[in-house]
Amino acid sequence: MSKRLNPQDILDKKARGQKITMLTAYDFPLASFIDQCGIDMVLVGDSLANVVLGLESTREVTMEIMLHHAKSVNRGVKHALLVGDMPYDAFQGGLNHAVFSAKRFVKEAGCDAVKLEWFDGCLTMAEAIVKSGIPVMGHVGLTPQTVDKIGGFKVQGKDAQGAIKIMTQAKSLAERGCFSLVLECIPAEIAKLVTSSLAIPTIGIGAGVHCDGQVLVTHDLLGLFERFRPKFAKQYVDLGQAIRKGVKQFRSDVSAKKFPAKTHSFSITVEELAKIKI
Ligand code: KIV
Repeated sequence: MSKRLNPQDILDKKARGQKITMLTAYDFPLASFIDQCGIDMVLVGDSLANVVLGLESTREVTMEIMLHHAKSVNRGVKHALLVGDMPYDAFQGGLNHAVFSAKRFVKEAGCDAVKLEWFDGCLTMAEAIVKSGIPVMGHVGLTPQTVDKIGGFKVQGKDAQGAIKIMTQAKSLAERGCFSLVLECIPAEIAKLVTSSLAIPTIGIGAGVHCDGQVLVTHDLLGLFERFRPKFAKQYVDLGQAIRKGVKQFRSDVSAKKFPAKTHSFSITVEELAKIKI
């Protein structure tokens, strides 16, 4: 395995003023394609609940499911820093269980770091995981695991009080040793303030251009998830359309006996065939 980027490389990019890229992946083929393109970080996001498993809430995805997918992604990532997203259930068993779960991402699935979403009590968990030697990426703003506590799936920090809360959370996570921070769905002006006030890089999703880097859910980028398209997600290609086109062509080729052609088939010699008595 060639050398992967490490947290210091990501911090160095911020110091040099170079933008950082991160994309999600949930399986080997997409992880390989993404890694071949020189993306800095690959996140095995718990968004897999929605875009891969078709579930409504990211809370439904378990540690076992996350590990299963992270192992597959790990096999495809040679260059990028691989981040495992701590699912909701990893925090329900207390501090030791959270640290144990973070270690599983590293030991069993080959991740280089873990990400955790903000929730009341997350600072102690973040600090303990960092102290156990595992790099941690924080996540503030719109935090889907605790969406019931933040008033739903909407832009966070739109008033001064909400913005100060986010800025305080970001600062506290940095102080607890996080090496980077996802800012999800917050006003660009607030993301700019957070970004300029922290030494660690901010990675935005729906947080404007001033973040040190950007992350997208790969299925949004590729047009592979049609149930819902967030305003902040830019679709770069339409694989959904390409898939439908290919599948329909297969169906019509089979009906018209155009597939399989001779090139897709095998044959036996006339002599051998003649020896078969039916
Ligand atoms: O699970 C995920 O895909 C995420 C990104 C939106 C950052 O947390």
